[in-house]
This record gives sequence, structure tokens and C-alpha cells, in this order.
Amino acid sequence: MRSRANMACVLKIALAALCAAPPAGALDITLPAETASFKASNLPGYPLVQQNCLVCHSAQYVQFQPPSSPRGYWEATVRKMKKTFGAQFADEDVAAMVDYLVKTYGAERVAAGEVGASTAYARR
Ligand code: HEC
Repeated sequence: MRSRANMACVLKIALAALCAAPPAGALDITLPAETASFKASNLPGYPLVQQNCLVCHSAQYVQFQPPSSPRGYWEATVRKMKKTFGAQFADEDVAAMVDYLVKTYGAERVAAGEVGASTAYARR
């Protein structure tokens, strides 16, 4: 009889703990802005990077490269994805993807219409 009473007591405590928990949905969670996708562009390389570069990792790998990275750096990086890491895109896609990358994330961003970007970085 005694252990039964103990059991009832344990159950009551457990129920009290459950009821004390905040109701689901009470937390207000604000998610950060979407950073995992490529920046939209009219350049022909934009759909190609979406198709070819998100197979293995997010666009953040590209976003975290130094903004001063020149065309040759992007070319070497894209080729490395294919040769070293085994990416499956066609060689014909490389030039357009490199063009999009250097104009969107690298040293040629002014050419893509982002006036002021290079002066902002030059001051550092
Ligand atoms: C077959 C898988 C695969 C594909 C497809 C791929 N990558 Fe990668 N990528 C990798 C791996 C693996 C790494 C290295 C990860 C690490 O070091 O943690 C990497 C790293 C990177 C980096 C970080 C810098 C560096 O040199 O390591 C950049 C930038 C990058 N990838 C860009 C691209 C771009 C642009 C494309 C599309 C043209 C692409 N990746 C497609 C596998 C891939």
C-alpha cells in the first residue's frame, strides 16, 4: 500500500512539472535573413551556380571568400571543385560561373553595378 501512495505522489509531481512548462508557441523566434543561397543576378552564371554549386555545400562557402578575390582565384576554385572534389558540372559552364562569382562576390563587383563597394573595401 505504501509504495502505491509513493507512486501517486511521483505522478503528481510529474504532472505538476509538465503543467509548469511554457505552452508550445509561446517562444518568439526570429530567424536570421537567408544567407545560404546565391545572390540573384542577370548574369548567365547565376542559374549555373545554383544548379552546380549547391550539390555539396551551401553558398556560404562562396560568401566567406575575401571580397578582393580576383578572377583567377575563382577560376582556380571552380576547377578545384571539379578536379579535386569531383563536382559533375560541364567544362563549358566554368567561364560563366567564374564571371558570375567574381562580379558578385569578388574583385569585379563594381563592374556588376555595385558602385561604392570597391572604395568601401579600399579604405580598410
Ligand atoms: C562535389 C562536391 C562539390 C561541389 C559540386 C562544389 N564544391 Fe565547393 N567545396 C567542396 C569541398 C569538399 C570543399 C572543401 C570543404 C572544406 O574544406 O571543408 C569545398 C569548398 C569550397 C569553397 C571554400 C574555399 C576552398 O577553396 O576550399 C568555395 C569557395 C567553394 N567550394 C565554391 C564552390 C563553387 C563556386 C562551386 C560550383 C562551381 C562548388 N564549390 C561546387 C565540394 C564541392
